[in-house]
Amino acid sequence: MIIAVDGPTASGKGTLARALAGHFGLPHLDTGLLYRAVGRQVVLNGGNPDSETDALAACNFPMDLLNEPELRSEVTGGFASRVSIHPAVRNALYERQRNFALQAGGAVLDGRDIGTVIAPEAEVKLFVQASVEARAARRYAEMIETGRTCTLKEIAMGLKERDERDANRKDAPLRAADDAIVLDTSELGRDAAIAEAIELVKRKIS
Ligand code: C5P
Repeated sequence: MIIAVDGPTASGKGTLARALAGHFGLPHLDTGLLYRAVGRQVVLNGGNPDSETDALAACNFPMDLLNEPELRSEVTGGFASRVSIHPAVRNALYERQRNFALQAGGAVLDGRDIGTVIAPEAEVKLFVQASVEARAARRYAEMIETGRTCTLKEIAMGLKERDERDANRKDAPLRAADDAIVLDTSELGRDAAIAEAIELVKRKIS
């Protein structure tokens, strides 16, 4: 079984995807991390994230970059969103994601275009959304908890900017697949959102 979990930044899709993977005993891939690694590698190369050539060269990032804590920062998220616009970058990362989705036994993938591009045949597609206020508050708490300095206003502005870029790019824009189930987590705590996601998957496959 392939479970596709898509949605905007800080909607809770990563938490839900990990919980679904644990519950159904499936491997999980956070595809945003791949784009973050490309964004980070461009900067390490001294390149420009808005240049398709520089971004494509950064797709050869070393695997251990995926473990670098800096990958989780808002700044790297911004670079990721910029490199993800380039079709050559999306192409370069396609195979790895597609192979992960097609492995025997199935998988859970979370991202922006899993249900629409990477695994359109997924048995279950969840589109996780939440208000900008709820998402900014969550991301702010996460940043403070991990010792980063930022303001709530900065976070909300960054989220809006990224939403806009992700939803309006030409190639694989952020959108719910026609057959996706929409789950709004604005008013749900972590455990309630996980319980709801598990219930939705069970209902869909029964
Ligand atoms: O999900 P996360 O915030 O880690 O993703 C970082 C950025 O990577 C997103 O803002 C988006 O631009 C890009 N991305 C994408 N397609 C995916 C996953 C992430 O374009 N499947």
